[in-house]
Amino acid sequence: MILEINDLHADAEQRNVLKGVNLRVKEGELHVLMGPNGSGKTTLAKSIMGHPQVRITKGEIKADGKVINDLPVNERARLGLFLQFQNPIEIEGLGIVNFLNTARGALNKEKISYKEFMAEIRSRGESLRLREDLIGRSLNYGFSGGEKKKMEMLQMSILKPKLAILDEPDSGLDIDAVKVVAENINDIRKNTNAGVLLITHYSRILNYMEPGFIHVMSEGKIVREGGKELIEQIEREGYQIDGSK
Ligand SMILES: Nc1ncnc2c1ncn2[C@@H]1O[C@H](COP(=O)(O)OP(=O)(O)O)[C@@H](O)[C@H]1O
Ligand SMILES: [Mg+2]
Repeated sequence: MILEINDLHADAEQRNVLKGVNLRVKEGELHVLMGPNGSGKTTLAKSIMGHPQVRITKGEIKADGKVINDLPVNERARLGLFLQFQNPIEIEGLGIVNFLNTARGALNKEKISYKEFMAEIRSRGESLRLREDLIGRSLNYGFSGGEKKKMEMLQMSILKPKLAILDEPDSGLDIDAVKVVAENINDIRKNTNAGVLLITHYSRILNYMEPGFIHVMSEGKIVREGGKELIEQIEREGYQIDGSK
């Protein structure tokens, strides 16, 4: 899938947050979006997925050439878009296996036997070092912050999106878990050729990944772009967002 964002302006709860964002993510590409707190990264992620809190006021979001500005969330998911939330919610009473099975069905994924399905969940859970008993629980219910992030990775592994937006999959994780999550993302990319837009605050996760494109957001716009060398520069100098560089 090619995701294309042209001159996107959007409000979050009546407040103008995005002020002209341009971005293009293609199949197989890994893009990293960085930037200070409150610069609009999560709002951009939500606008791509069609979150009701975000209202587009100008510009367009295209998936494979088709404008999806007004498409409901479930239809975007069916096109192959996936959003990992920065703060995943807990849903008591919604069993994880049941949830994943329903989600697969809603996305018209090929039918597989229960046995195969469980085997896939178990093997994915294992590679994420997710404790096996967690899979028997309600979605994210009583999970630690790190376990919730891993649970979202498990969903992505099972749903195999064409384009995944990962909103700080590394925040709140210890060093070992960051590596596990990074390796999981690499693995999914290799197996499915999905495009990935990875939002992160820290360059740590990027020690285990090879992003082709770095974008830095500030005050609702992408103000700097480059390759991996930009990360080292940001590490050294901070974001230095004055538009003159
Ligand atoms: N639902 C909302 N209601 C009110 N303000 C919001 C909402 N979502 C985001 N904002 C505001 O928009 C700005 C950008 O937020 P966000 O996109 O979460 O930034 P980031 O993810 O880069 O830290 C912030 O000033 C934030 O307070
Ligand atoms: Mg955010």
